[in-house]
Amino acid sequence: MRIAVYPGSFDPMTNGHLDIIKRAAKTFDKVYVAILTNSAKKPCFSLEQRIDWLTRATADLGNVEIDSFSGLLVNYANQIGASIIIKGLRAVSDFEYEFQMALTNRALSPNIETMFLMTNGKYSYLSSSIVKEIAKLGGSLSGLVPDFMIEEVKNEIKKNQ
Ligand code: PNS
Repeated sequence: MRIAVYPGSFDPMTNGHLDIIKRAAKTFDKVYVAILTNSAKKPCFSLEQRIDWLTRATADLGNVEIDSFSGLLVNYANQIGASIIIKGLRAVSDFEYEFQMALTNRALSPNIETMFLMTNGKYSYLSSSIVKEIAKLGGSLSGLVPDFMIEEVKNEIKKNQ
């Protein structure tokens, strides 16, 4: 069984993330979407909220599980039996950091392979930071996050302002 882990902050999940999750779900037997809980970046949305959005967005994908982890990604991957780390690449600017992380993870755990999925072109500019910025400034989130999330993201941002 090919088990993959797709790690990230998902603060919040975007349609770019969802596109990668759907494609990974077609390629691997099981995909764990894993939210890092001890990030140096302070998240804008609670862990429960981020889990809820990911769970609802992936409800129709039977082989996707939402989880959270702390500490080293490779330790978590080994714990759940994942042999593949999935990363999405948007642009050359993502490459250097991802390259460094992939090599670090290989040095830490050579049995785990990092695989990159190129983003869908229409999401190449999209990031969680962009979504937060647009929501703060009152712009439209249509097409950037799933429709069911739009009002909830705006309301959460308002609460936190
Ligand atoms: O969505 P993000 O914030 O870009 O995701 C970053 C993430 C969670 C993939 C990365 O920070 C990570 O893997 N953290 C776990 C700590 C770790 O394993 N570090 C060593 C590899 S660099």
